[in-house]
Amino acid sequence: MTDHPDAASLNDKWILITGAGRRIGAVVADTLHAAGANIAIHYRGSADDAKSLQARLEARRADSTLLLQADVLDTAALPGMVEQLIAHSGRLDVLINNASSFYPTALGTVTEAQWEDLIGSNLKAPLFLCQAALPHLKAARGSIINMVDIHAQRPLRDHTVYGPAKAGLVMLTLSLAKDLGPDIRVNGVAPGAILWPEEGMSDKLKEGILKRVPLKRVGDPSDIARTILFLTRDAPYVTGQIIAVDGGRSLNW
Ligand SMILES: NC(=O)c1ccc[n+]([C@@H]2O[C@H](COP(=O)([O-])OP(=O)(O)OC[C@H]3O[C@@H](n4cnc5c(N)ncnc54)[C@H](OP(=O)(O)O)[C@@H]3O)[C@@H](O)[C@H]2O)c1
Repeated sequence: MTDHPDAASLNDKWILITGAGRRIGAVVADTLHAAGANIAIHYRGSADDAKSLQARLEARRADSTLLLQADVLDTAALPGMVEQLIAHSGRLDVLINNASSFYPTALGTVTEAQWEDLIGSNLKAPLFLCQAALPHLKAARGSIINMVDIHAQRPLRDHTVYGPAKAGLVMLTLSLAKDLGPDIRVNGVAPGAILWPEEGMSDKLKEGILKRVPLKRVGDPSDIARTILFLTRDAPYVTGQIIAVDGGRSLNW
């Protein structure tokens, strides 16, 4: 079988991943880098993690990474981040909106600051980053991946701001896919239970969740990374799709 003419190697491409210093973002960075891509590793506070990820990737292939620091709530800083990458590499092929804040906000306790933080990181920043990246993604005939959540479609108890923010990000994904074709593909990945929240979750709650996962286990960040690799490299005719990577959890709501 010969390669399809659209089959794209990631060699020499530049991929910007937000919130890439640690957890899922770092594994996505590592996986795409191992497949040949150069990575702009964005972080906010996790400087040590981001620097050690950079060192690991540079040991694999020299001059293949760039570190970008920003709080994505600072909308004015987003174009500067893209320009920093363009000044360094001259191109941007794939944007992965992964940075996110996540915590419960039971109604009756919600503050405006929580609204700004959750909507800001999960919905507003992806939109303005896509806007800043647009001419470069267009020139590269690139793609966008937005990290959403299976709970964008079915509510997670007490997550009255996070859920709507991710639901908005799903609609942003679909809207951009419609508007930016044929030059740019736009897709979303919706993780189920992959890494438990760091703030802690009771064993009872974890067991309750796993009972409803047909594959009976949590996922691994590599499950997300391989799905993103497929969408960026191997899916030239896929746009406007949200792929759930959830062990079948969304079958058992
Ligand atoms: N973990 C799961 O099982 C799961 C389930 C469903 C959906 N998801 C989605 O998958 C993605 C990755 O999940 P994760 O658990 O690895 O994420 P995470 O650890 O909760 O957050 C990823 C990074 O987002 C960055 N971030 C948060 N607010 C920011 C801000 N204002 N400005 C810049 N960066 C900010 C943080 O960077 P610094 O540390 O550098 O500050 C953080 O390390 C997220 O979009 C999440 O919503 C994950």
